[in-house]
This record gives sequence, structure tokens and C-alpha cells, in this order.
Amino acid sequence: MYTGMLHTHTLVVGLFLLLYLVKTFLLVTGKEDTLAVFTTKTKWAERVISVLFLATGIFLYLNSGNITWMVHLKIGVVFASIPLAIIGFKKKNKILAVLSLVLLFVSYGLGEANKKQATKVEKPQLSSSTGELETGKILYTTYCEACHGANGDGQKSGAKNLKISALDNTGKSMIIKNGKGAMPGFSALSDAEIQAIVQYTDAFKEK
Ligand code: HEC
Repeated sequence: MYTGMLHTHTLVVGLFLLLYLVKTFLLVTGKEDTLAVFTTKTKWAERVISVLFLATGIFLYLNSGNITWMVHLKIGVVFASIPLAIIGFKKKNKILAVLSLVLLFVSYGLGEANKKQATKVEKPQLSSSTGELETGKILYTTYCEACHGANGDGQKSGAKNLKISALDNTGKSMIIKNGKGAMPGFSALSDAEIQAIVQYTDAFKEK
């Protein structure tokens, strides 16, 4: 469900950006007649796209395991760009229209940066006397619990249920290192640390 919503959101945002790229281009190059025709012809498409943009965005926000200040900034930037676009196109103000488009691209970039944010959380202090399972637990709590939940069956951001995962050690390690879909890759973790986490997640199954 989450993954489907994420793909729909990405598609809809892409279409929205494309639409505004064309409109801004027409405004900036002074092709006002073409802009008027284009705006009329795409009126309904734009409405549908805007509603889907908002609806999928709200769904993702409510079901994400990775809401940080970046997400809030991103939402703020999107909402700031809306009045700029409305006024820009109404008053045929090129600067406002371009600024609005720039803000939309900035918010897109923030969304991409946010995905990596989950991996940048500071590593907890681990001493050499900390056992492997304990190490796994500490790292899991720090990096994984937000999406996978304390018992492995959390499904925020579309996370897979680790209690029923059919992946072997290698498969799990690969996903933890490289990420997949909405899950970021934790390439900064050492092989030993990843092994410790895998051992810890394997224990979810017996419960
Ligand atoms: C931002 C949320 C998020 C975080 C944080 C996260 N995951 Fe995931 N995880 C996911 C998603 C989403 C998937 C499903 C990926 C797919 O198949 O498209 C997944 C899949 C997996 C899988 C594969 C399960 C299977 O059977 O296919 C494993 C293993 C896994 N995560 C372990 C971890 C571990 C360990 C951590 C911490 C180091 C972690 N994840 C952190 C979201 C997250």
C-alpha cells in the first residue's frame, strides 16, 4: 500500500512539475496566448493532479516511519510555493512564477535528502565488551525500529514484516547495506555490525 502510494505520489509530482515547467516557460517567453489556451486545456488535469498530490502526500506523511525536520520544511516549502504560483500567474509576474517553480524543485530535493537522513543518526556508544546480540539490539533500536517496530512487525513507510521474512542472512545483509524502495541503505555500518543486527532480527521469528 505505502509503496504504491509512494509511486503514485512520485508520478503525480512529476506530472505537476512538468505542467508548471511548461506554464512557466510560456509565461517567461511572453507566449501569453498559448499559455491561456494551455491553461484552459489542462484545467481538469491540473485539478485531478493537485488533489492526488495532496491526498497521496497526506497518506505518506501519516504512514511514514521517517518524519524529520526535513519533511516539515519540505511541506512548508510546497505550501509557500502555492500562493506564489497563484499570484505569479494571475498578475503575469515572471519572477514569482519562476520562484514558485524553484521552490517546488527545492522541496523535491528535500524529500530525497530526507531518505538518507535516517542513516545519519549518530551511532550509539558500543564497547568491545558489548555482546553481539546486545549490539544488534542497540543498533536495531537506533536505526530500524522507527519503521520496523520494536518486534519487527512494524510496517511504517511500507516496511516488510521481519517476523515472516523469508530472506537468509546474505539477503538481509544486502538490503541493510544497500537499501530497497523506501528503505535507505546503511552503508556506514560495518559488516560485523550488520551481522549483529541480522542476528537480532532473526530472533523475532521464534517469538
Ligand atoms: C524508512 C523506513 C525504514 C528503515 C529506517 C529501515 N527499513 Fe527495512 N525496510 C523498509 C521497507 C520500506 C522495506 C521493503 C523494501 C521493499 O521490498 O521494497 C524494508 C525491508 C527490509 C528487509 C527485507 C525483508 C524482506 O523479507 O524482504 C529487511 C531485512 C530490513 N528491511 C531490515 C532493516 C534493518 C535491519 C534496518 C535498520 C538497520 C531497517 N530495515 C531500517 C523500511 C525501512
